Formats: sequence, C-alpha cells, structure tokens
Amino acid sequence: METYLREIAATRSERMRWWHEARFGMFVHWGLYSQLGRHEWVMNRERIPVAEYEKLADTWQPGERPAREWARLARQAGMKYMVMTTKHHEGFCLWDTDQTEYNSVKRGPRRDLVREYVEACREFGLKIGFYYSLMDWHHPDGARCARDGAARRRFLDFTQGCVRELCTNYGKIDIMWYDVSWPLESPERWETVAMNRMVRELQPHIIINDRAQLPEDFGTPEEQVRAAEAGRSWEACMTFNGSWGYMPISPDWRSVREVVDMLCTATAGGGNLLLNIGPRPDGSVPEQAVERLGAVGAWISSNGDAIYGHVDRTDGRMEWMPTGRWTLRDKTAYFWCNRWPGEELTLGGLRSRVARASLLTTGAPVAFQQTEDQLVLGGLPVANPDGIAGVTVIKLECETPPTQMLGAGCVVLD
Ligand code: GLC
Repeated sequence: METYLREIAATRSERMRWWHEARFGMFVHWGLYSQLGRHEWVMNRERIPVAEYEKLADTWQPGERPAREWARLARQAGMKYMVMTTKHHEGFCLWDTDQTEYNSVKRGPRRDLVREYVEACREFGLKIGFYYSLMDWHHPDGARCARDGAARRRFLDFTQGCVRELCTNYGKIDIMWYDVSWPLESPERWETVAMNRMVRELQPHIIINDRAQLPEDFGTPEEQVRAAEAGRSWEACMTFNGSWGYMPISPDWRSVREVVDMLCTATAGGGNLLLNIGPRPDGSVPEQAVERLGAVGAWISSNGDAIYGHVDRTDGRMEWMPTGRWTLRDKTAYFWCNRWPGEELTLGGLRSRVARASLLTTGAPVAFQQTEDQLVLGGLPVANPDGIAGVTVIKLECETPPTQMLGAGCVVLD
C-alpha cells in the first residue's frame, strides 16, 4: 500500500492541474429513488423491503436524453465538469452491466443512462466523473460480506467488475468518485489498492476521491465548504436544497448569493465546489435549480477571473473583512465585496503597494489613496453595482504578492 501511495503522489500535481483550474462542477443524483421524491436514502430510512423497492426498476420512465439538459445547464452555470451517480446505495446500475440484471438496460428505462450522460458531457465540453457507491442495499452480499468470507469474495468481484466496466466501456473518464464504504472496515478488506491500480491502468489520467478508505487524490468535505490542510486537495460537495436526490417537499434552496459565497470560500482555500442537482424522475431539473444556476452563470461570466485557473490560498495571507472576502492570484487580490459600503471603501492593513484598482466586471478604474496602513477606494457607485448576487469584485493589482495584517489591536503593526 505504501508503494502505491508513493507512486500516485509522484504524478499527482500533473494529473490534477485541470481539476484545480476548473473549480466548479455539477453533481447529479438520479436513480430509482427520484420517483419517490423523498431523499436518496428513502429505502433505508423508511425500511422499504428490497422486493417492494425493486418494483421501481420497472416503473422508471426517464424522458429523452435529460443528460443534455444537465450538461447545457452546467455549461451555462460556469461549471467545468460533472459527476453522476452510476449506482447509488440502492444498488440500481444506470449502465449496461453484466454484473447484475438490476440495471437500466434490462429494466424500465431500457437504456444505458451512463452512456447518454457521457455523450452529453462530451457534447458540451465537460469533464466526466462517475460516482459509484461501494455500499449496496440490494446486492445479497452487500451486508453479509462483512462476516462471511465467500460473500465478501463475491461482493468484491461484483464491485471490481462494475468498476472495470465503467472504466472500460465509455472512453476517457476523468474522475472516479467513490462513496460510502460500509460495511468493510479497511482498505485491505475492500482491496482498494488493487481496485484503484486497475482503475489507473484503464484510465491513466483519472483522478480518484478519498471515499474508498485511501486518501488518494482529493478530500471530500460534505455539506460544508472547508479547506483541508495545505497541500491536500479538496472538493466540497453541496446539496442545493438539503437532499441529494429529488425531494420536492424540501423548501431549503440555497440562494444565488450563497452559491457565490461558497465559490469564494472554495477559491480562497484552493478547493473545488461540486454543487448537486437532483433531477425529477424524468430527468428534468427542478426550476429552482435552473433559475439559480442561470444566475450563478451570469455572475461568473463577468467575474470568472477571480475564480478559475491557478489561485493562491489566502489563509495566513489575508484577513477577514466586515465588507467582504479575498481571493488571490500572484500579485492580484480580488476583494469580493458583499456588504456594499457606498461611495467609499476602506481596507486596512494591506502590506503591498497597489498599482491599480478596478471593478472586475467592467474593468472601470477605481480611484484610491494608499497610506501606510489604509487603502481608501473612492468614487464608487452609491449602491452595489452587482444586481445578481450582491457581490461586486474589486481587483487590486499590486506591486508584490498581496498580504494583509491587522491583528486584534489598533496600532500600526511592523
Ligand atoms: C453521503 C450520502 C449520499 C450522498 C453522498 C454525496 O455519503 O450517503 O446519499 O450521495 O453523501 O456526497
């Protein structure tokens, strides 16, 4: 295992470059549970017996190629990649698999939904990720494998067979996104090293997440946008309304402003944001998500410079401000002003000379005066010029890589 971890660490930065620069992706949770609309854990939470739940495999009637709608929307929203559930905990496979009859080609949909998804990603120029749940509530050995050696062998063969097909039959795949590794308790018992070696042989450029009990390429904080320790890549996965699967009764939609704020936190911490949609059973996207993603895309289309590409982490370099937050790239600081102060904005403690200040969306210069401890930006619009999210980015081009120091006191610090 140590050898494997060393080997993959050596090639990581090369492999991860596009992903770091991409910043923003779309997660799609779609499966039999979408028909019930009560969360993707509905089978487990409501204790629906397998035999009853299985009937959903025959009643599922997706509309025509909904993946094209997702991919178009992702593109418009400024997302650069997608990750779709090929098999969630319910165990239903959305592709043409030889490992089980419980799949979307043999049952209701009669189509390879993974293939449609892959084709849509390619059509819209998005990188392709496969979510795969190791935990399986349908497979007869899915739980038994924890205490029965023969069952474990069968379940591992099934798992590796599924993963092999996904990495063999769909051309180049960019991300393998495992989930929930219940009930086996170690990477040895899951044979993760062998499985991931196989994945990497079949897909040499693939990026793998950390949910098969190995740290692999990136960490996956869930429902919280939080930077991992420096040196470790991370991607926050977030629901849009508190459920991953379609759940129309949940009213808790995140606002455009919240999504922009999450993007700011991800960028400032050098991480990514994977924002989920839970399509309806026919595959159409709830209008709340469509509307918000459209607005997020409009915001990003003129503020993308502050988000995409290589960025520097702000931790330790910049301070929190009551009026907004920072992202950084080389000698440029972007101040995401989300509480608009009116015509004048004062930023204290900058330790770099500012050469030019401007509004990112228009490039219009902003007048400023800088003294040793204060940068005073003047002549700003009275009201926040950003009508989409209420976040206006001010670009400060500095003479040296920006840093800021305030401390808790009110004296000028050396
Ligand atoms: C959790 C949930 C699962 C969801 C996933 C997304 O592990 O069990 O339903 O798909 O998070 O990160």
